[in-house]
Amino acid sequence: MKILNSAIIGGGAIHGCHVNALHLIPGVTLRALVDTDSVKGLKLAKDYQCRFYQDYREMLLDEHIDVVHICTPHFEHKEMILAALAAGKHVFCEKPVAMNSSEIREITQAADHALGLLGVCYQNRLNPTSQSIMSTLAEGSLGRILSIKAVLTWSRSGRYYTESPWRGRLATEGGSLLINQAIHTLDLMQWFGGGVTRLKGVIDRSELADVTEGEDSAMATLHFANGARGLFYASNCHTTDSPLLLEIHCEHGTLQINDNTLWRISHGERIALASDASPDGSSKHYWGVGHQQAIRRFYHAIHHPENADYTDIRTAGKSLNLVEAIYRSSQIRQWIDISN
Ligand SMILES: NC(=O)c1ccc[n+]([C@@H]2O[C@H](COP(=O)([O-])OP(=O)(O)OC[C@H]3O[C@@H](n4cnc5c(N)ncnc54)[C@H](O)[C@@H]3O)[C@@H](O)[C@H]2O)c1
Repeated sequence: MKILNSAIIGGGAIHGCHVNALHLIPGVTLRALVDTDSVKGLKLAKDYQCRFYQDYREMLLDEHIDVVHICTPHFEHKEMILAALAAGKHVFCEKPVAMNSSEIREITQAADHALGLLGVCYQNRLNPTSQSIMSTLAEGSLGRILSIKAVLTWSRSGRYYTESPWRGRLATEGGSLLINQAIHTLDLMQWFGGGVTRLKGVIDRSELADVTEGEDSAMATLHFANGARGLFYASNCHTTDSPLLLEIHCEHGTLQINDNTLWRISHGERIALASDASPDGSSKHYWGVGHQQAIRRFYHAIHHPENADYTDIRTAGKSLNLVEAIYRSSQIRQWIDISN
């Protein structure tokens, strides 16, 4: 099997999850780290014993690099993806893959004509609880989904925004709570529910109004294609990062993620089906435990494109559509139809 050389653009908070994952995949070498901050970047490159670039376009000229990981602020994703695909690289990009749906369309066109694959990091799909929900729903004994409820309450301090000034600005983050934190929850809801057809939502700025231009709280009612309802609430104004609360009410029972454990509640019984306890301690618990799996699946797809199983641009676009629809709905105070 061909050895794959990788580069990571952006040596900030999330990049360590990518480094850890790459170290655990046989036949993969971290060849380069790119960061505009040369002091930080040089130190990291020395630690990882790889090359350092300050300009990602120079890194893209290295023909030995096969895979580019994008771990940079949201507003830079589109240009970096387009440039890396044009250079013939495979690209694995952190969420959100872009700032809005028009950027998604541009990227989709490029990805459709590229030699390399484009994967997007929605690692929570690989959480044991998520995988168990999908297999339990597919098995069928719970019957039709009637409603999906999700509550995400996390804590983001003023420091979180000041230490990386792209955060909290509409021009560079593209929003705030929804596009950055709660996009994972919206992705899971629409995935479990089989697609959203319309929604009505409201965003607000309260406790974090001094530090972010975007919303710090949001809620929405969703309608799924199969007639089920969705109830969504999220806020960055809590004082701790509580684990996601998610409940899927079906005709013959309920699935519930509570305190990182998935429970099946039916016929008066409550049975634990799966747990998201971090096996290696490498991911903050609230980011989920799936980076390793998501990255491993992407590399598997590079070697076996005929048997690929990773989050592609079309799938990644669905949750961004929901984010955008909640922003729009909040603005005009009306239901928004979602085209899938
Ligand atoms: N999947 C998850 O659960 C998860 C969790 C956290 C962050 N993220 C995503 O990861 C991405 C990065 O977030 P973060 O919190 O690590 O940000 P960060 O601010 O901590 O780090 C960003 C890094 O990118 C560097 N950078 C900026 N522009 C650059 C450029 N043009 N070339 C090279 N380097 C550049 C910065 O110097 C910084 O080191 C975002 O898309 C974010 O939403 C995903």
